[in-house]
Formats: sequence, C-alpha cells, structure tokens
Amino acid sequence: MTEFPQFPPGFLFGTATSAYQIEGGWHEDGKGLSIWDVFSHTPGKIKTGETGDVACDTYHDFQTDIDIMRELGLNAYRFSISWPRVLPLGMGEVNPKGLDYYSRLVDALLEAEITPFVTLFHWDMPQALMDAYGGFAGRETALIFADYAEVVVRHLGDRVKHWITLNEPWEHAWLGYFVGEHAPGRRRPWEYFRVAHHELLAHGMAVERIRALSPDAQVGITLGMHTIEPARPTAKDREAARLADQLTNTFFLDAIYRGRYPAELMRRIRFLRPPIQPGDMAIIAQPIDFLGVNYYSRGFVSHRWYIPLFRAWLDEGPRQPEPGAPPPQYTAMGWEVYPQGLYDWLMRLTQDYGRPVLYVTENGAAFDDVVSKDGRVHDPDRIAFLQAYMSQAARAIQDGADLRGYFIWTLMDNFEWAEGFSKRFGIVYVDHRTQQRIIKDSGYWVRELIRHQQASGR
Ligand code: FCB
Repeated sequence: MTEFPQFPPGFLFGTATSAYQIEGGWHEDGKGLSIWDVFSHTPGKIKTGETGDVACDTYHDFQTDIDIMRELGLNAYRFSISWPRVLPLGMGEVNPKGLDYYSRLVDALLEAEITPFVTLFHWDMPQALMDAYGGFAGRETALIFADYAEVVVRHLGDRVKHWITLNEPWEHAWLGYFVGEHAPGRRRPWEYFRVAHHELLAHGMAVERIRALSPDAQVGITLGMHTIEPARPTAKDREAARLADQLTNTFFLDAIYRGRYPAELMRRIRFLRPPIQPGDMAIIAQPIDFLGVNYYSRGFVSHRWYIPLFRAWLDEGPRQPEPGAPPPQYTAMGWEVYPQGLYDWLMRLTQDYGRPVLYVTENGAAFDDVVSKDGRVHDPDRIAFLQAYMSQAARAIQDGADLRGYFIWTLMDNFEWAEGFSKRFGIVYVDHRTQQRIIKDSGYWVRELIRHQQASGR
C-alpha cells in the first residue's frame, strides 16, 4: 500500500497527449501533411520503422478514452491540435472537418466534466510551412502561427479556457534542427537559435491574439525543465553545466519572464545569435497566466574542449553509481528516476520568476509493460515513480509553489516519436494491432489517489 500525496482543494488531475502521437487519420478529411508525417515515412528515421498513420486512432474514436478518464476520476485533459488538420497548408484556407473534430472532442470532454487544456503546437508543423519558410527557421512562420491561433480560438474559445501556445520549444529546435533526431530532421546547428527565437516570438504573438479574442482565457507555454549537474566537481565541468542550463532552461525562462536572453550564452555563441528585431523581446515577455512544466530527469554535463562554442557535453543516460549512494534507477528510456529534481524546479521557478502559477503539464515514465496471464498490466515501477514525483510536487506546494494541477504523461501508450511504439508511457495499455485498451495498475492507483483526495474533503 503506497501513501497518497495530498493536494490542495480544486487541484487538477489530468493526463497529457499530443495530436501526432495518438490521432492517426493522417491523410483524412482534408488534413494536410505535417513534418512528422513526412519524417516517419522516411526510411531509417523511426527506430522501429513505424509511423503515426494510425497511432491510437483517436481521430475515429475519442469517446472510449474519455470514458476511461471518467472512470479513473481524472478532471483535466491536455491534448494538442494538429495545425495541418485545421489549416492544411498552415495558413489560408481552413479545413472545417478538422475544426469540427476538435469541437466535438471539446464538447465530449466538457460533457464528462473534464477541463480541456489545449496545446496549439506540439511539434507537428505543417509540411507546407517547412517547404516555404523552413518551419520556425523562418520569421514568417511566427506570424502565421498567430493567425492559426486566432482561427482555433475563434472556434473553440467559447468553451476552452486554458491555452498552451507551444510544447517544449527547446526539444523541438534542438532535436529537430540541431541534432536531426526528430522531424524535420535537419542537422543545421546554425539554424538552432533562429528557430528557438522564432518559436518564442510565435508564442508571444499568439498570446496577444488569444487575449484579444478571449479575455477570460488563461494562456501559458509549456517548457521542458532539465536538471543539469556538472559530471565532476571541477571548475570546467561547472562552467559547462552553467552554459547547458542557459541553453536548455534559462534561454526560454529569461526571455519570457525577463525579456532577455542569458548574456553569457549570447557572448559565447557569437555569430549564431538569434535574429532579434526591435520589439521582439517585449512581445515574447508579455505576461502569461501560467507556466507549464514538463519534468522527467536529470543530466550530467562535462567539459569537452573539442565541442565547438559550448565546449560541453550533456549525458542523460546511465552512469556509474556514486560510492556509498544507492544505485540510480532508470526508466525504459534510460532516464534516471530523480523525483527530487521536480521539487527543485518548482521551487526555483517560484523563487527566481516571481511565484508564477504552475502546472506540471507532463511527468511520467516508460517501462517495458506486458499483459500478464491474468489479463492485467502490473506496473509497480510506474506506481512508485508517480508516487515519488507527485510527493515532491505536494512538498513544493507546502513550501510555497503555486502549483495548480498535474498531468501525467500519458493517458495511453502511444507513438513515442523516433522510438515508435516501443516505449510505453501510458497509464492505459494499448494493443497497437487491435486498439484494445487495458487500464494498467498505475491507472487504478491514480483512481485511488483521486478518491483519497476527494474523501479527505479536497
Ligand atoms: C516530451 C514530449 C512528449 C513525450 C514525452 C515522453 O518531451 O513533449 O510528447 O514524448 O517527452
């Protein structure tokens, strides 16, 4: 029997998903192509050779999953909108069937008393904008994104009151444009800061637009927060870790909350500096209503003289245990289980950025789940993971963080980007051949957690 962490009254318990990872219906009812459609269809890009063509097929059936959420007592759901489903070319003509799909989804959630949190961009850039402007490498795309936000908010803003502009701009820019492991699969380090800056500009422009159209809406952005530690206690590793923290974390946080990029990083990157035009930083830094925090793990950084500009190497995989300390535990992604890091981040945001309203918009773990002979999925590691991370979140609230909700990544096993379907993050198991759903033990644990919360009058 695990102990249940306690949260304040009105706390939201949700799960998170994203369009490309679950919807399928990749080429139906007028949807345009996204960079993920093109990327996953390119041989060699997805480790398992799979695509998101069908995924969890929620384009054809979202009700089954809403019924599961209801059964588990979840009262919030974070999902994303596929930009090319709404605007097949990214701009211009609207696809009414695409908009209608999301409208029905929102209605069904509200009917089930589940609060929708809608992400406008979770990495599935319309291919047409990739072809025309290089995706977010082009400044035009930021302006076009604001138009897209307007189309969606005009249609759903009467019912949706929580908007997330972008999901994890660092990961999208870094994995997609610098390293090339994600769509669009570019390996152009010199584009990286352009992309990151234009993502932030897109965010700011969309915030302005959403506010103008829906003054009572809550608008935020979701950032991946990374715990970065020096690999060894040397001055050089510390310096490398500081730069990596600026690159992955404070570049985005300082831009949004302080209207500037970290000075040390800007000096270091010289000719790669982002193309900031007059007024950009004010647009990026306008007030937001909440910050979405995605948190998973920590990484260690070491100084490497031969790496251009940063002279730093970030390692998130397994490492040697420290003498005397218990051996670290890793998930199926090879990420260390590090719950303390969530507490530290929630407190750092609270202290350094003026106690913003926070939501954990993603936290969870992949393990190698199997269906047992009894027909159930026993995932004690995930229960232990959630219990540990949620306890740290509850502790941060006690210590002053204004955390209002927690979204588990993810509702059901889905298309884990370059890993295909090989990594199972869900609290619901999905048989990807039959689309059958089986609630995992962790799903039932979440139900008990929520019941316990309600029973204690919260
Ligand atoms: C995050 C992504 C999400 C999912 C999890 C495991 O970086 O936002 O879509 O893939 O990682």
